[in-house]
Amino acid sequence: MSVLVTGGAGFIGSHCCVDLATHGVDVVVVDDHSNSSPRALDRVAELVGVEIPSYEIDVRDPAELESVFAAHDIDAVIHFAARKAVGESVAMPIEYYESNVGGLLNLLRTMRAHEVDRLVFSSSCSIYGDADDVPILEDTPPRPTNPYARTKWMGEQILADACAVETAWSVMALRYFNPVGAHESGRIGEDPRGIPNNLMPYLTQLAVGRLHELSVFGDDYPTVDGTGVRDYIHVMDVVEGHRVALEHMTSPGFRSLNLGTGTGTSVLQLLAAFTEVCGRELPYRIVARRPGDVAELVADPERAAVELGWRARRDVLDMCRDAWRFQQENPGGYEPA
Ligand code: NAD
Ligand code: WQD
Repeated sequence: MSVLVTGGAGFIGSHCCVDLATHGVDVVVVDDHSNSSPRALDRVAELVGVEIPSYEIDVRDPAELESVFAAHDIDAVIHFAARKAVGESVAMPIEYYESNVGGLLNLLRTMRAHEVDRLVFSSSCSIYGDADDVPILEDTPPRPTNPYARTKWMGEQILADACAVETAWSVMALRYFNPVGAHESGRIGEDPRGIPNNLMPYLTQLAVGRLHELSVFGDDYPTVDGTGVRDYIHVMDVVEGHRVALEHMTSPGFRSLNLGTGTGTSVLQLLAAFTEVCGRELPYRIVARRPGDVAELVADPERAAVELGWRARRDVLDMCRDAWRFQQENPGGYEPA
């Protein structure tokens, strides 16, 4: 089986390449490296012992994408390539719609031309917005609250409409909650550009001395300790979910599934777990809530368990340990420290 992984040099994509190649799948990558280092793919090749064909192209470019489909006999696509920073999406909505919606449309046109009929789409828990009921079921009406989340919800609607006419297509939108952690080798991991927006990479960079203090965004939420609660999920569990999803795409149609653990962890609980793993106290300060944040986002993971026979296996300490190993062994990420 040959799988095209768009955004394959990124955080989740690089782990997915390792998992697929380790399980005998031929992987082809396209990535424009707008948010990743080509070195990630060198590390992937080192881990799996084979070169991964990779193309530095923009998924929105029809001719370039066409040439990749022409050069490889692709059976299925996993589409990670997208812009993903919520705050940036508010400031640059046109670029976000162009990348995330435009990129998907170009991919679908090229898949149709080459009769590739299986696709896994990276969706996001952010489509739920401020959900009334937690844990969140897939049937919860989406209420995305920012342009990034709207691109993901639009992506799902486009795919559902396309599947209604492309009757051979089998498409799964996987709604990830908060992917964190790293491959247990410590060779690949999360390496965001600039100051991290997200909590786990902020913690790892703080512990390695690249940052000085964590700002905890609000301690007055109606949660266990007043700080925001999220469903952190190990990136290796996320990518295993993709492999299992591909194996289950034997019948046509469109489906959406949550990929989460079902367990909520507050900011202070994650800080405590990370402190235990890295072995030193990390300075933090409570500050105002971050605009747009919600109190609690936790998946109901049962549908994926029933439909795919997949469950997340790793806990928060595993996530902290693996994220910390990557950062400790690569203090500058993929760049020299
Ligand atoms: P990432 O930024 O590390 O990976 C995305 C990759 O896509 C990067 O390597 C980037 O260079 C590439 N890319 C972006 N635009 C491109 C384009 N137009 N053409 C070609 N390549 C392009 O992000 P990630 O965390 O690995 O996320 C992967 C996917 O999962 C994204 O679609 C994201 O929206 C989704 N997602 C991520 C999270 C999360 O918290 N990390 C949660 C839910 C959903
Ligand atoms: C987690 C918690 C913050 C940083 C994001 C995207 C979402 C999805 C997953 C892509 C919150 C708190 C954070 C900090 C803090 N991605 N925090 N200090 O916002 O749940 O979700 O990633 O689809 O779309 O929005 O993740 O890691 O930013 O925040 O106190 O410096 O940590 O307030 O409660 P979030 P996060």
